[in-house]
Amino acid sequence: MGWRQAGAILWGGMAPATRADSRFRLVESQARELAEKFGTPLYVIDERTFRDRIRRYREASLKANPKSQICYASKANSTLGLLKIAYEEGCWIDVASEGELRAALLAGVPAEKCVFHGNNKLRSEVAYGLEVGVGIFVIDNFEEIDRLKELKGDAVGPQCVLRLAPGVDPKTHEKIRVGQADTKFGFNITDGSALEAAKRCLASGLNLVGVHCHVGSQLIDPTAQRQGGEAIAEFAARLKTDLGFEISYINVGGGLGVKYVDADDPMTIEEYCPLVLDAVARILEGSGLDPIVAQEPGRALVGEAGVTLYEVGVIKTIEMADGARRTYVSVDGGVSDNPRPALYSAQYTVERVVKRDPAWEYVTDGPGAAFGAPLGDQVVTVSGRHCETDRLFADVSLPKDLAVGDLLQVLSTGAYNSSMASNYNRFPRPAVVLVQLDGAFKTLAERESWDDLFRRETV
Ligand code: LLP
Repeated sequence: MGWRQAGAILWGGMAPATRADSRFRLVESQARELAEKFGTPLYVIDERTFRDRIRRYREASLKANPKSQICYASKANSTLGLLKIAYEEGCWIDVASEGELRAALLAGVPAEKCVFHGNNKLRSEVAYGLEVGVGIFVIDNFEEIDRLKELKGDAVGPQCVLRLAPGVDPKTHEKIRVGQADTKFGFNITDGSALEAAKRCLASGLNLVGVHCHVGSQLIDPTAQRQGGEAIAEFAARLKTDLGFEISYINVGGGLGVKYVDADDPMTIEEYCPLVLDAVARILEGSGLDPIVAQEPGRALVGEAGVTLYEVGVIKTIEMADGARRTYVSVDGGVSDNPRPALYSAQYTVERVVKRDPAWEYVTDGPGAAFGAPLGDQVVTVSGRHCETDRLFADVSLPKDLAVGDLLQVLSTGAYNSSMASNYNRFPRPAVVLVQLDGAFKTLAERESWDDLFRRETV
């Protein structure tokens, strides 16, 4: 008999990662308290991890190029409290809609520190951006050049940057691969549209200052970002030789991957930033151009800072005709709080962080009775509770004594989870809680109430 380690993470046979695992994890006491106070499912963001990653990004970039700038891609997580932190840490904010722009403004970010993206900005959005004084407009298409020209009138207007499609093909899920020539985003360099766009901007009296590209997301291999940066730097050099126009700003986008499962081994921020910035510098060498070099990370800043906490509600083992068995562990959230597995076959690390009842820890017999002896793992399918045949987290290892009422944490859910949440099956969206630097919890977003859910509707 003996005490079994409560909340022990029972990994079996996983290869150790090459680089350090910097993902935020809740400890058992935090998870218990959070679940009690805020309920589950719950998004939790660690302030320290988020701030640290921004600082590391800034420091590594400034070291490689003193004229570098970090712009936080708010689509990754635009919770107001997090936008405020990103701005406090010296980031500009990338917004890709009027909603994201309004979020940044509500968070206290000045409009002039916002970079406005979008492949089909509505006329009303462009007008709103001009009205509030957005710092940089990233022009995506010829229509937008005309729209901006018309709406700005005689004013100098905002700084404008051309979104370019550099024609590189990153290795990542096809739905988040955007650098290739065949894309809805930006002006193609190879077919001459990019040069034509630059000419039109200059002829239209727009305040063109630079170029931009973003080639894809969750890139473990950074080749595509490096090539994208090189391609737009070459284009910038051509703008000088062909048109006599000198850029003062170049933005190489985001895309650095994070660790979702042990097999993911993304570059560290310190490895990645100089790799991309030096590549751009090499191309610009001797061109006489010395622009600000901006980067636009989202996931790499906030992804590993977040976990989602769920409670196990049902455990069901199914025996198939061929005798194979599958255990379904249903949690109290699912595709509405994390659509990424359904959309991109995304994989996650799932850990038991709290057993249902601390009294259960004391065992007198069975395989876990020896002090600290793990019971071992079983491979299960963690499902949500939506009307989908969802395998939210397929084939994850969880302890054999997993029980209804246990709390699970899913790592690296800080990016593209709360920002992509829905109300499918009329599920209220979860609260977002910040673990502050002193360890205290702060609600950044309350769980949606039934009133919130039905506010927009009439019978
Ligand atoms: N800049 C631009 C113009 C972008 O479109 C994006 C992401 C970023 C920066 C930031 O990329 P990051 O550093 O986070 O990889 N919903 C997908 C991700 C879509 C990313 C779209 N653009 C997902 O859940 O994986």
